[in-house]
Amino acid sequence: MRAIDPSTFAISDLPTPKPKDGEVLIRVHAAGVNRADLLQRAGHYPPPPGASEIPGLEVAGTVVAAPHTAQGVSVGDEVIALLAGGGYAEFVCAPAVQCLPLPSGLSPVEGAGLPEALATSWLNLVDLADIAEGDTVVIHGGSGGVGSVAIQLAARRGARVLTTVGSAEKAARCRALGAEVAVDYHDEDATEQLRQSAGEDGVAIILDILGAGALDSNIDLLARDGRLIMIGLQQGRTGSINLGSVLTERLQIIGSTLRALPVARKGEIVAAMRHAARLIAPQIHASLPLEEVDRAHQLMDDPATFGKIILTLD
Ligand SMILES: NC(=O)c1ccc[n+]([C@@H]2O[C@H](COP(=O)([O-])OP(=O)(O)OC[C@H]3O[C@@H](n4cnc5c(N)ncnc54)[C@H](OP(=O)(O)O)[C@@H]3O)[C@@H](O)[C@H]2O)c1
Repeated sequence: MRAIDPSTFAISDLPTPKPKDGEVLIRVHAAGVNRADLLQRAGHYPPPPGASEIPGLEVAGTVVAAPHTAQGVSVGDEVIALLAGGGYAEFVCAPAVQCLPLPSGLSPVEGAGLPEALATSWLNLVDLADIAEGDTVVIHGGSGGVGSVAIQLAARRGARVLTTVGSAEKAARCRALGAEVAVDYHDEDATEQLRQSAGEDGVAIILDILGAGALDSNIDLLARDGRLIMIGLQQGRTGSINLGSVLTERLQIIGSTLRALPVARKGEIVAAMRHAARLIAPQIHASLPLEEVDRAHQLMDDPATFGKIILTLD
């Protein structure tokens, strides 16, 4: 099969994988690009043990083999799938529990942009942060693949969404997705703008992708019993904080990574987000053929990019 060779990042002819117990074989139409793929390419984020070395954490495609152990998914189904790896290829195996029907009205390119961002948003906002109607939630990086989905999920659950973005144009797009306020993170008083917008009750939940660089301001923004959920460390992994605030304000700092979770846990998340998958509008910035993987990865760092970059295989 045609696939991206994980050692060279060039297209190669690699063996087609065989489904294990509980897995289906998918003919891939489109594969989402994630920041983790760039980290893996740079040698910083190896796949978890047992996962395909081929990059790619999400696809949309057609099921072409479904052994009897793969319950709930049949040959011919058009699906979207969350993966631990292997998506940059003509064929990929996915646990049946990590597949959902391609939401009606979505193209495979749009569908391929959903599984990783929605599962990440669901795990962190719903399961870990226990988001509730009326909560004020800060989502850092609202224009990102995750952020643009997290805004929609939080807003649909009745939260007030404040977000940070890199430009006025992106701020307008985030407001269209459901953010009440979108603050430009280049502004010196960005944290103060968020505080003012949060009002008296303060911020209940922060979905953070920045890590050390935003640690102080995040702790400072949280209201009593607030939850800081860390899913990315784009501004560093080592920081210091005033633990006094953590104690007296009863704050929780929670970190998580989706990729390494066991299949059964990912299956629970995918099952729980089934309904939401039909309501979220994936934001696709560009789709490129698999051959243009280098350009696709460059686009992830292009300041104009809003939402997801997708690779196509048809
Ligand atoms: N832990 C997990 O399970 C998990 C799962 C998925 C993703 N992640 C992580 O989550 C992060 C986002 O992933 P993604 O796929 O959405 O990546 P992405 O599409 O590349 O988005 C990155 C975002 O970072 C924003 N950003 C850059 N500097 C910022 C700053 N100073 N303040 C606020 N935002 C800033 C960018 O905003 P502008 O474009 O507006 O500049 C962009 O929206 C990545 O770090 C990724 O590794 C973690």
